[in-house]
Amino acid sequence: MNKPLEEEYVLKKLREFKSKDLSYFSGRILGSMCSEPHPLSKKVFMDFIETNLGDPGLFEGTAEIEEETIKIIASLLSLDNPYGNIVTGGSEANIMAMRSARNHHIKTNNIKHPYTEPFELILPKSAHFSFKKASDILGLKLIEVNLDNEYRIDIESVKKNINKNTIAIVGVAGTTELGMIDPIKELSQIAIDENIYLHVDAAFGGFSIPFLKYIGYNLPNFDFSNEGVSSITIDPHKMGLTPIPTGCIIYREKKYIDLINVDTPYLTVKKQSTIVGTRLGAASAATWAMLKYMGKEGYSEIAKSCMINSNFLADALIKEGFNLITKPQLNIVSFNHPKIETEELAKAIEEKSWKVSISSCPKAIRIVMMPHIKHVHIMNFMRDLREIKSGI
Ligand SMILES: Cc1ncc(COP(=O)(O)O)c(C=O)c1O
Repeated sequence: MNKPLEEEYVLKKLREFKSKDLSYFSGRILGSMCSEPHPLSKKVFMDFIETNLGDPGLFEGTAEIEEETIKIIASLLSLDNPYGNIVTGGSEANIMAMRSARNHHIKTNNIKHPYTEPFELILPKSAHFSFKKASDILGLKLIEVNLDNEYRIDIESVKKNINKNTIAIVGVAGTTELGMIDPIKELSQIAIDENIYLHVDAAFGGFSIPFLKYIGYNLPNFDFSNEGVSSITIDPHKMGLTPIPTGCIIYREKKYIDLINVDTPYLTVKKQSTIVGTRLGAASAATWAMLKYMGKEGYSEIAKSCMINSNFLADALIKEGFNLITKPQLNIVSFNHPKIETEELAKAIEEKSWKVSISSCPKAIRIVMMPHIKHVHIMNFMRDLREIKSGI
């Protein structure tokens, strides 16, 4: 470790590191679910930077902000009496939900010797890899079921795979690779009929589907109005424009949180359910600020402009002879070219200084049309794609 250095020197060195990063403002980041946080959310985040909701008795005001934030987000998801937390992101939220589901299964089935039989989790092949982490941590056997022609979970495959060891079913509202919305209504009916926990992962879609529906987009209902839904993951740090790390888990009933609470004897509150202990109050404050400042209208505008840009790109790609994997349901556009391998196409795009990602199922170039991507960036991207195509 070095001797103390001048502040000016430290800051200069850090600026040098940062100069190697890409900025969202460049419009070059085309494959990320994160975006430039709104200036207000950054300011509020800094104002609450020292608050710790791991010990909420010390920060009662900030704890109240979290409670209100959960209520506001839940109201977007058709739930009046929510329980939940602002957490670090979709992964933590999903892992919490899986803890609740496993413990609920153990309790309701009065299982005396857990793990003598496998705990099985039914989820679509399109589910996010955070469920692999949940599987590893919680000892869950993942039953990855097929997708239908539109890359949504296949309902018959779900039904076929249910057995006495099934701890939960997962549906996704806005899949990571293609932005598709699983048929949550049908999953909900299965969950009710079979008395199984249903978790909806709306980490990506949660901050756009309700707003798009509000302005008239015809999208399926994925929220708590489906009686079988037990919990929902919804991430402010994706389409909610808050700083990283800001995720959110909402439960329909208190019993699901009680099932994952552990005793915290030396803290100001005696129970804790989150995976993380010391926990940013700044994330709650920034989310509260954005919800109040943007309102339904503000978020609807953002979601709408991302959809307009997605559809514009999709149409432009078709005109240029590229194949869309599917018509965008949310703001993700995935495509290939009939004459170029996906990896080769990705390499050529990267050589022109764009950052895209490749989806795996099916293999394709994946563009996540986040708010930092503007019309002019799409025009420039299409110009480069035309050049790549003419070189084939
Ligand atoms: C559908 C879905 N769920 C969960 C996650 C994990 O979220 P995080 O990276 O915030 O942990 C992602 C991330 O892309 C996602 O797309």
